[in-house]
Amino acid sequence: MRGLRSSPKRLSSKYFYDDEGSRIFKKIMHLPEYYLTRCETEIFEQEKETWLRLFDPQQTGFELIELGAGDGLKTKILLKHFLQQKARFTYVPIDISAGVLTELADNLHNELPQLSVKPTEGDYFTALQRQLSSTDAIRRVVLFLGSNIGNFSESETIWFFQRLKDLLLNGDLLLLGFDLQKHPSVILAAYNDAQGVTREFNLNLLRRLNRELQADFDLSQFDHYPLYDPSTGEARSYLVSRIQQTVRLDTLGETVQLEAGECIHTEISRKYTLVQMRSLAQSVGLQPLAWFTDSKDYFTDMLLEIRK
Ligand code: AVJ
Repeated sequence: MRGLRSSPKRLSSKYFYDDEGSRIFKKIMHLPEYYLTRCETEIFEQEKETWLRLFDPQQTGFELIELGAGDGLKTKILLKHFLQQKARFTYVPIDISAGVLTELADNLHNELPQLSVKPTEGDYFTALQRQLSSTDAIRRVVLFLGSNIGNFSESETIWFFQRLKDLLLNGDLLLLGFDLQKHPSVILAAYNDAQGVTREFNLNLLRRLNRELQADFDLSQFDHYPLYDPSTGEARSYLVSRIQQTVRLDTLGETVQLEAGECIHTEISRKYTLVQMRSLAQSVGLQPLAWFTDSKDYFTDMLLEIRK
């Protein structure tokens, strides 16, 4: 309600990921316009050997914690390789969607029965904190992939890095996947696909409010409106009210007024340059050790070390 009462109106992108939203996002990852997943998959295939050496140089074992694991499609490339190499590690997928997590755990159990998995449900930090207090001090490698970092505002990004640094120990690692600035048309198309799957993803936020808060958003009266601003590297998505309308949220006993053309901001997907990310990380005490880019130079996975 705070977001819907603000000006401009906004809803946090973390609410996209109910079971339905997570299902739609899986479709997004396979869209021809959505290059991010393909680029990062290429990097994973390319670097899995190098990464195992960097994650566990002494072969003493480690904990692989993934924030926002989703269907773990890319991570499975690493998991399979690490198991083949007889690495000693536990995989800790963290996700906000219980349905997604159960599906992932079942899938891993079937496909990689020898893998040790500890699925943890919740917000990134609530789940991470719960997980860290129940573990001994072997090295932790945190995966934050797929440009999830792009959803944060500048201040949230700094807060996120600091929080992570506080919770982790000296020498722990962060593998951070982020999307690079590139031709604006390429970026915009990734958030405005021809099949309209991203539109469905955005509208699902309203459908979710209808389902969970007995709201009466009429989806046919809202448009998906994505844009990319090359001067800030921000892709943003909005839902635009086509008409003047009043929406009820019965569970909350509230109503919301929308003007014709009024926008609800639903997502930021920030794109970085390598230089920006390196200095941002360094400014909060995360040391870039190495970075890995796909053949198109569209996407980067950066390995950062916690230095306190
Ligand atoms: C999962 C946050 C990385 O921002 O690219 C995809 C979500 N939104 N299409 C992104 C998303 C619209 C995605 N992340």
